[in-house]
Amino acid sequence: FVPPKESDSSDGAILAKDKLGHVIPASQILSEPVGTRALIAGLAGEPTYLTVKANGILDDRGIVNNCTHLGCTFPWNGRDEQFQCPCHGSRYSPDGSVVRGPADRPLKLVRVRVEDNRIWIAPWTDIDPRTGARPWWV
Ligand code: FES
Repeated sequence: FVPPKESDSSDGAILAKDKLGHVIPASQILSEPVGTRALIAGLAGEPTYLTVKANGILDDRGIVNNCTHLGCTFPWNGRDEQFQCPCHGSRYSPDGSVVRGPADRPLKLVRVRVEDNRIWIAPWTDIDPRTGARPWWV
């Protein structure tokens, strides 16, 4: 028996897990309604939101749940379509851009891909599509 690999050295990806450390099958998140933000444990255990973009499709951008102001975690508010930080009131649009401070940097992105019912999370090192610039976290 060879256990399935849990990391991919070619791009630094790891498998998405739940907070207990169990690998989450992609089908579990993809069975949620379109627009669902599902929280998983991502790179270095950082809680990360995955978005069900369409039926059977995850957004290839994951959003790290770590406020760029002082690092609080925050919920998704589906009614306002925003991530809203409870600590000092920062708000972010669905793509993680700042809508209201005090945060002044967009939320960190990670790359998401689905293969064989597994979800891989890799570091985002390319241009930040929201700013057109090099990501602040690289
Ligand atoms: Fe989120 Fe201050 S830590 S607004």
